[in-house]
Amino acid sequence: MLSHTLRQPEIDPSLRSALARDYERFRTGLPRSLEEYVQERYAIDLSSEYGGLRVKNPFGKASGQLSLNISQVRRDGDDGLGFVVLKTIIAEDAGGAQSMSEWAIEETRMIVERIRGADGDEGWTVSWKGRGWYDTFEKYLGFFNEALAAGQGVGMPVVPSCKYHLPRSGEGEWKSAEYEHTTRRLLEVWQRYCPDRVMPIEKDFSPTLAGSDRAAQTQIIIRWLTRVTGLIRHGAQPFRIKVGLKVFNAVFGDDFQLEMLRAINESCDSEDAPDFLVYGNRLFDSNRQFDGVRGIAYGGPDLSARNLSVLSRMRLLEHLGSVPVCRLPISGTGNIASGRTAAEYLLRGASTFQIHTYFQLPSSEYTMQTGGKTARALLELYFHPEEGLLAWLLHLRRMFDWPPEWNVKEMAEFCLEPANHVWAEHESTLG
Ligand SMILES: Cc1cc2nc3c(=O)[nH]c(=O)nc-3n(C[C@H](O)[C@H](O)[C@H](O)COP(=O)(O)O)c2cc1C
Repeated sequence: MLSHTLRQPEIDPSLRSALARDYERFRTGLPRSLEEYVQERYAIDLSSEYGGLRVKNPFGKASGQLSLNISQVRRDGDDGLGFVVLKTIIAEDAGGAQSMSEWAIEETRMIVERIRGADGDEGWTVSWKGRGWYDTFEKYLGFFNEALAAGQGVGMPVVPSCKYHLPRSGEGEWKSAEYEHTTRRLLEVWQRYCPDRVMPIEKDFSPTLAGSDRAAQTQIIIRWLTRVTGLIRHGAQPFRIKVGLKVFNAVFGDDFQLEMLRAINESCDSEDAPDFLVYGNRLFDSNRQFDGVRGIAYGGPDLSARNLSVLSRMRLLEHLGSVPVCRLPISGTGNIASGRTAAEYLLRGASTFQIHTYFQLPSSEYTMQTGGKTARALLELYFHPEEGLLAWLLHLRRMFDWPPEWNVKEMAEFCLEPANHVWAEHESTLG
């Protein structure tokens, strides 16, 4: 698609020169009100929607090691990020029991390393052996509270992520007390800041889950995907909640990935149907080793290739009328290391883009040589004349004849329509 057929976005030469100038000019720092600048200079409305909340731009911090303390969140607010998903908390009941406690382990050592994808593309992956939040739930609630305050000051939504109990094979019961207690406590904090807005939450099914015995059978995974939303909603009562399922890459291949997405879209009772999807978490390699542990998660080019290919297959089947259309909003994640890759996710229906790895590269990888890594990454993600999002949005707008007043959410909604999935059938449409 964009990456394979086109080397350069096809846009008006004067806009291309403007992008090249801005890319140079903002090396010392992005404009304070970036969205206004982009609206005025390029007539692009960067706003979108995440979990039912308006976001000023579509780039967010994905849950993980870069969203587990308040200074990281404050910095992201100053750097102009659209939204932040906090590190995943492991659910517990009122007595503090955590059935998923094996995911609440402490690990600080991480290595950012180069990785080559199967197609030869170079990229980056983060190796570590940690998992979810490892401090107390009280500390997480305090952090959530501070993070909401920091986000509110700069118009940057901050949302929690949670790993709730998932029964193993043969374990019939769901630990609903963990769902109820954790969801309610998070909502109490949210209500203090945003009483008139519905809290989104991401339900994390992590890549390490893919490698665990819990996820060894496909029918168990389908059962989780089609049931957890209802349990979270029930736990939230009397409040409403927007549940986003962060779908993981299981170890069973692409056909099963498609089956997972189809099960979420087609097999959930209305109470169990999520409000949005996050697609898709990192790959799991049972042979990859790090720090004496065999079997770790990884990302890089293979991750985006796989995510984009699975989403393409789903959109193609929808286009051909072979499967019901999945209209759930998607927040794309997985090796989004350029605006071009973000545009690839957009073409498959994603309205926001969540990033972890690209926000932690060695400083020498970014053109901007001052400030935090979020700002440095955003300069590349927006303004790079060949790889940036602005260039590719201008390209897509021209190609599809999008009205200039459309924001990113409206562009994604266009891309959700099966009639517009022509690219899925004819790769060369974009060429
Ligand atoms: C070090 C590290 C820790 C992560 N921790 C979490 C987590 O706690 N919860 C979660 O949902 N995803 C977690 N992720 C996954 C990221 O949120 C993200 O979805 C994934 O890495 C794909 O994006 P990327 O290619 O930009 O890194 C983690 C990723 C990394 C690299």
